[in-house]
Amino acid sequence: MPKAATLLERNNVSIAETPAPGPPSPREVVLHMRLAPINPADLLIIAGNYAIGIDLPAPLGAEGVGIVTEAGAETNFAPGDLVLPLVRGCWMQHWRLPATSVVKVPPGLSLTAAATLRINPATARRLLLMVPLTTGDFVIQNAANSMVGRCVARLAAGLGLRCCSVVRRIDSLLPCEGEIVVEDGPDLAARVTAATHGAPIRLALDCVAGEASGRLAACLARGGTLTVFGHLSGAPCSIPSTLLTARDLQVRGFSLRPAEAGATPAQLTNFYRDLAAALGSYTPPVAATYRLRDLHAALRHAAAPGRAGKVMLDLSAS
Ligand SMILES: NC(=O)c1ccc[n+]([C@@H]2O[C@H](COP(=O)([O-])OP(=O)(O)OC[C@H]3O[C@@H](n4cnc5c(N)ncnc54)[C@H](OP(=O)(O)O)[C@@H]3O)[C@@H](O)[C@H]2O)c1
Repeated sequence: MPKAATLLERNNVSIAETPAPGPPSPREVVLHMRLAPINPADLLIIAGNYAIGIDLPAPLGAEGVGIVTEAGAETNFAPGDLVLPLVRGCWMQHWRLPATSVVKVPPGLSLTAAATLRINPATARRLLLMVPLTTGDFVIQNAANSMVGRCVARLAAGLGLRCCSVVRRIDSLLPCEGEIVVEDGPDLAARVTAATHGAPIRLALDCVAGEASGRLAACLARGGTLTVFGHLSGAPCSIPSTLLTARDLQVRGFSLRPAEAGATPAQLTNFYRDLAAALGSYTPPVAATYRLRDLHAALRHAAAPGRAGKVMLDLSAS
């Protein structure tokens, strides 16, 4: 994760005035964006460290929630609909885009829950469904107090799975029912074995990379899968080759947007409806909300160590 100072030295983030988007074509919608979080991926893009090359300058904002102000005649949307954009660029106040690039917000969500549904909860659900698991199987994850981690724990319980959560500080999360929490460290595998009474673990979810990948892989049973979906340590994955060969482990990567590339708008609408239902009342804690004109302060806050909760941008305030 880039340090705040490095982030601001390297970036040249500016707020651009763009012309009013103009009326939608028959298959477009115009949105007034309301609320958007700052995600780790946004910080990586700004710092030039995002895995998939994105040429700057580019619109930023991995996710958010907006309200339809105008809808083309051939769309299923109407003014007043709350929607989630599926494409990057949510740090925008007014936006004209294809109707296939948005889905309706499932009913009953708060604005904060809606603005943060698109990326982390969806990632957690798809990560859990990538590998066939059966009721009672264990999944292990690191950075478990992250938003993805909290969603993994909730969704795993809903799927009948057991969750072992690895964190840097044991007091940094309030466990979900049935969740086992273990502090990271060199003897992680031994402590996980003790905490899970030696239950075989078939899936490990790694968003830290570096040496943490090897520690998590060492917790897997023979034939288990380590899925790497983040790079919080900033270091390349380090996994002892003997561990891979002796246990016949699979290592794979995951990225949300490519993973859902083949889905139709109807499938995505159903996916987010089911996801919201599975998460129930979960809403991530909010560290602070900034106006768009205070973007630099918001970015510093989002990159600061020890931040508790999401940093949000209120896009409806000038
Ligand atoms: N591949 C994808 O499609 C995809 C999609 C969504 C998210 N992600 C990734 O998932 C990860 C979590 O995202 P998020 O938005 O849920 O995060 P978040 O809520 O902002 O939380 C960040 C977490 O990272 C932990 N952390 C930071 N640096 C760490 C390190 N070096 N070692 C261990 N833990 C560290 C922090 O723990 P402390 O409390 O200990 O500081 C905190 O719990 C990120 O890497 C993100 O890029 C990937």
